[in-house]
Amino acid sequence: MNIFSSNPSEQPKNIGLVDSFSRSVSYLRVSLTDQCNLRCFYCTPKPLEDKLDAGELLSYEELLEVIKVAAGLGIKKVRLTGGEPLVRRDVTGFIGELARLDGIEEVRITTNGMLLADKIAELYESGIRKLNISLDTLKPGRFREITGVDGFTRVWRGIEQSLDREFAAIKLNVVAMNGINDDEFIDFARLSLEKPLQVRFIEFMPMGDDSNWRQDYYIMSADIMARIERELGGLTPVGGGRFDGPAKTYRLPGAAGTVGFISPISDHFCARCNRLRLTAEGRLRSCLLTDRETDLKTIIRSGGTAADIRAALIATIKNKPEGHKLSGSEIKNCHGRMSRIGG
Ligand code: 5AD
Ligand code: SF4
Repeated sequence: MNIFSSNPSEQPKNIGLVDSFSRSVSYLRVSLTDQCNLRCFYCTPKPLEDKLDAGELLSYEELLEVIKVAAGLGIKKVRLTGGEPLVRRDVTGFIGELARLDGIEEVRITTNGMLLADKIAELYESGIRKLNISLDTLKPGRFREITGVDGFTRVWRGIEQSLDREFAAIKLNVVAMNGINDDEFIDFARLSLEKPLQVRFIEFMPMGDDSNWRQDYYIMSADIMARIERELGGLTPVGGGRFDGPAKTYRLPGAAGTVGFISPISDHFCARCNRLRLTAEGRLRSCLLTDRETDLKTIIRSGGTAADIRAALIATIKNKPEGHKLSGSEIKNCHGRMSRIGG
């Protein structure tokens, strides 16, 4: 196996990753583990009996090699996800190395916040400047019902400590669910008034076979927006109404922060999708909602070279589907597990 001995001067020129629909792919999401210290009812409701063993995950060394090749093809941003990425051993040491790779301009992380207060200093020092924190409720009792763990106070402390540092962006991801947390949309939006947070509402997607997704939980972004405007005043588009990643972002009158909407179902953003995913099992996945994957781990562990990794990346992007059809009768077509794919 010689993927670790490739000479950088022999690396082929950066040709960029462009798919068959002329989308340029510059953003890689990496699920570091399927393990999580929460059990959100829509994600991992049961203890993970079939969880991945450490040896089934790509090692940090393997991940760095893949990302190095990806950077040579134009990947500039990497987001670490899970499961919960902060439960993986020495994750901040890995982030430090990742942030130093040539061509990688930004490393971001999506966390459930449970370990944030403990790791915030290390995370900041490793080079992370943008944080996404998942939080579906501001009520401690409800937090336990949704996640199975009595952890609200811990997560909240992590958010407050993050706000004390000079992060470039702190985003709160709220999965919007009718009958579960819809009575809190206004309180979440209100948080953006005083705090420099971006509060983002995500439409609930029918992910995985055991996701407990139900049509009546689904609420579209336009309805959430209307409720917020009725209570708190008009939402003004930020950045001339341009998208910030998949989110459309707005500001309430006089607010320190912003409110964003991610609408994978009512207004899907496939035409602008610049993403590639690497799952916890080491599979390349070109679309969150299409079960089409390339087994990169087997390629690497059967002696694949940097050129083989490069070829797999290019082939996966060539095969990136135009989009998903999460609407009408086709709404349940994704069988992949969120905790392995990484959102
Ligand atoms: N629909 C929408 N968002 C989801 N997430 C997990 N499962 C779903 C789903 N079915 C969110 C998590 C986290 C992000 C990675 O994805 O809450 O914020
Ligand atoms: Fe963990 Fe995120 Fe899944 Fe919740 S949604 S169980 S925090 S991986």
